[in-house]
Amino acid sequence: MMALRCPIHKASALFSPQTMKAVSSPPCASTPRKWLHTCKTFFLQHHRQPYTANIAFSASASASPSISVVDDDAMGYIFGHNKATQVAHLVWKYVVRSGDTVIDATCGNGNDTLAMLRMVADDSASGCVYGFDIQQQALRNTSLLLDDSVTPEEKQMVKLYAICHSRMEDVVPVDKLARLVAFNLGYLPGGEKSIITRPETTILALKAAQRKLAIGGLISAIVYVGHPGGREEYAAIEDFASQLHADEWKCCKFQTLNRPAAPIVIFIFRK
Ligand SMILES: C[S@@+](CC[C@H](N)C(=O)[O-])C[C@H]1O[C@@H](n2cnc3c(N)ncnc32)[C@H](O)[C@@H]1O
Repeated sequence: MMALRCPIHKASALFSPQTMKAVSSPPCASTPRKWLHTCKTFFLQHHRQPYTANIAFSASASASPSISVVDDDAMGYIFGHNKATQVAHLVWKYVVRSGDTVIDATCGNGNDTLAMLRMVADDSASGCVYGFDIQQQALRNTSLLLDDSVTPEEKQMVKLYAICHSRMEDVVPVDKLARLVAFNLGYLPGGEKSIITRPETTILALKAAQRKLAIGGLISAIVYVGHPGGREEYAAIEDFASQLHADEWKCCKFQTLNRPAAPIVIFIFRK
């Protein structure tokens, strides 16, 4: 049996190491992952800052020592359980607060738009997500996902534009700075694979994102290299990020070295 002590709720729960399901009433969820997520959300809401301490899943005497892990989305990525998008969303949560303005530069099917909306939505409706995609189909998909997932009041906080992301400054008001500008590049999953993001406009959009970014804000790019043109786009972004002044910008990437076609996540943080 695995005993987990919640450092926030100050309560313990027992989980089965075989099934990873709760066998005694857990403090806040039915699996360790949900439990950790709930703890982090609780901490963010009450302390207005991310929960950064590692939470070790320590096993009791009867469990295998290998059970001892740090359950975290970034750790999940390293151990091959989590996708690049999950890592990106985790990092976004570290910078985005309710009430913020954020920009989804590539709405696609709306998963990232929805994740961002959940981070910025607040009772006073001051949070705002600006979403861009050049395909009407993508904006329809995004709108439908929001209809299914959030209240009409929350959906009002999302503004969708069928224009190239390089033109984001045409619609985001001059006085509004974004805490996050997110790019999830390539083609629309389930859509036309020949309609892809292109290096020239992506770099223009990254420059626009730099100008629209608040101090302490983040530009995030998930870059796909498995389709034609993907590697060239990745090279252009890497080149762009590598040249930013280190006094003002911190640029890093997550890349799976032994899966050359796996997506690469690039973060550009404005200090
Ligand atoms: C990988 S998908 C985005 C996935 C999406 N964020 C999601 O959560 O489902 C890439 C999207 O970028 C869009 N796109 C391509 N070029 C663009 C451009 N210049 N400006 C804005 N969107 C563009 C495509 O139409 C496509 O829907």
